[in-house]
Amino acid sequence: MPLSVLVVCHGNICRSPMGEAIIRKEATARGLDITVDSAGTSNEHPRSNPYPRTLDVCRKYNVPIKHSARQVVDADYRRFDYILAADSRNLSALEARQPRNATATVRLWGSYLDGKSISDPWWADDEAAFEECYQHCLKLTNAFLEEIKGGVQ
Ligand code: 4NP
Repeated sequence: MPLSVLVVCHGNICRSPMGEAIIRKEATARGLDITVDSAGTSNEHPRSNPYPRTLDVCRKYNVPIKHSARQVVDADYRRFDYILAADSRNLSALEARQPRNATATVRLWGSYLDGKSISDPWWADDEAAFEECYQHCLKLTNAFLEEIKGGVQ
């Protein structure tokens, strides 16, 4: 079975669908067989498409992106090998709702690089914030794939 990763932010319309799309593209480019999805700790945007600025920056860098926002559910903690939180608040939220039978490794995504959270571009709502988010997600993708590549074909 391919290794599986769930990227998690708050609303599941900015950081995590962007991160999901970048991991999928970069893993494919490296020939790594990884299943990727994303979800939110909140349910504020059920079934929404990624935010338009998220789509814009992904289009700019030729990153295919298609996602329908959803909230994290208990089954995610068994379905995925890794659950990567975009920031420390969402990591705390993920840890607080973790079911007893969880098997996933739940970590701050930034812990694979420098321990930093991804700033939420939603609040700035400008192109520069989404560009910064893209660059941060790309660095974290490289760090994460480097760390786990020994475990996937
Ligand atoms: P995200 O950004 O967590 O990166 O998807 C946000 C999107 C929406 C909201 C907050 C953050 N909101 O409060 O609606």
